[in-house]
Amino acid sequence: MKITIIGTGYVGLVSGAVFADWGHEVVCLDIDEEKIKKIKEGVMPIYEEGLEELVTRVQDNGSFKATTNYKMAVEHGELIFICVGTPSAQSGAADLNYVYQAAETIGKYLPENEYKIIITKSTVPVGTNNSVKKHVNKGAGDKKVDFDVASNPEFLREGNAIYDANNTDRVVIGSSSEKALGVLEELYSKLDAPIVKTDLASAELIKYAANAFLATKISFINEIAQICERTGADVKSVSHGMGLDNRIGPKFLNASIGYGGSCFPKDVEALYRTSSANFYDFRLLRGVMDANERQKFYFLEKLFEKYGTNLSNLTFGILGTAFKNDTDDVRKSPAIEVIRILRGSGLRMKIFDPAAMETAQEVLGNDYLEYMDSAADVFEGTDAVVILTEWKEFATLDYEALVKKMKSKVVFDGRNLLEPEDMKDMGVEYYAIGRSEAG
Ligand code: UGA
Repeated sequence: MKITIIGTGYVGLVSGAVFADWGHEVVCLDIDEEKIKKIKEGVMPIYEEGLEELVTRVQDNGSFKATTNYKMAVEHGELIFICVGTPSAQSGAADLNYVYQAAETIGKYLPENEYKIIITKSTVPVGTNNSVKKHVNKGAGDKKVDFDVASNPEFLREGNAIYDANNTDRVVIGSSSEKALGVLEELYSKLDAPIVKTDLASAELIKYAANAFLATKISFINEIAQICERTGADVKSVSHGMGLDNRIGPKFLNASIGYGGSCFPKDVEALYRTSSANFYDFRLLRGVMDANERQKFYFLEKLFEKYGTNLSNLTFGILGTAFKNDTDDVRKSPAIEVIRILRGSGLRMKIFDPAAMETAQEVLGNDYLEYMDSAADVFEGTDAVVILTEWKEFATLDYEALVKKMKSKVVFDGRNLLEPEDMKDMGVEYYAIGRSEAG
């Protein structure tokens, strides 16, 4: 099939490369010339395992082209996927300007009397696709255009994006056009996954409901962690015991300093706004957001209780700045928020993250912060080490040797990566989240 992708962010670039890998002819468009120039040179605008190799391969075999030429891109695709960003507006609702601009520009370049399907992959609130249709028509003006709109939300995770795109649990496609549903079903028939064919509004809502539910699961276990701390129970045992129930499942039950990233915070808030706009007060979601906001302060309280709020005579080592492991993304990263708060108390920090050093430095600058070359470096002469991102390599460091390099053996573990017993054996004063025998 001939496929056009509008927007080369996470979703667009990964989907485009994966479709090309499946044997389709893909044109990926972005209005950012620098981004497209880099992609053509094989330099990825994002860090994602395997993406550079994949894009290089599909560019070399001619199945993937990156361009800034809107006219060419729109004329090329029988299927045109809108994959542009939907950031939070000031109100917390999703800002749909990029989506509507893309729709209008697609309309402007749509050839007359040639059937196309315009599919929104960006996460958009219920009702958006109807407006997409209006914006395409507005862009088309008096031309006789022939198109259907469809919703095809994406469920891939950063850090696992290519794997997820090839191994999704389900495909969701929504449209009022049987023809469009049929074409999209054929596109995804390659995958060994159920295909949910539904109406536009349901497809749009499935995406928000899924993300909000996962965020709820995290906030739930974070609240349970608070009960653990007050009763002597251990949150790892509790989540293990809960997760063995098939109806609950073990995933997304790791207590933490809270969820972050470019999706959960934005999507939970946007769903809450959609509910309010439809005269429904979705109080459970309000609770999920509040719990997530509080969680990092519960963690910080342990630290302030020990040292007080003036930390200007101390230096800490920080492990992790990314919002989660296997990514360089620091958008809405709880790690960044914690670092900012600690800096506000005058703390000096030695920082390391395996992938998110540059991105962290861009948002944090250099005041009070020293960016190190390895995880081991953050232990050297520091008063405490704080783990903020769940990188696997942070769980397997040689702590026995590393803590000996510290001024005092104190570890605050915001991701429950370590075992309280092991830390105790090493003479470490260990603080975690909801773990028994940890502070
Ligand atoms: C999330 C969803 O998992 C994807 O299915 C969805 O496609 C994507 O949003 C999106 O809407 O585009 P992502 O933001 O990449 O993916 O990250 P997740 O792996 O879901 O993690 C989100 C946050 O929750 C991270 O800060 C992570 O550290 C935190 N988390 C996750 C926990 O604190 N505990 C857990 O048990 C799991």
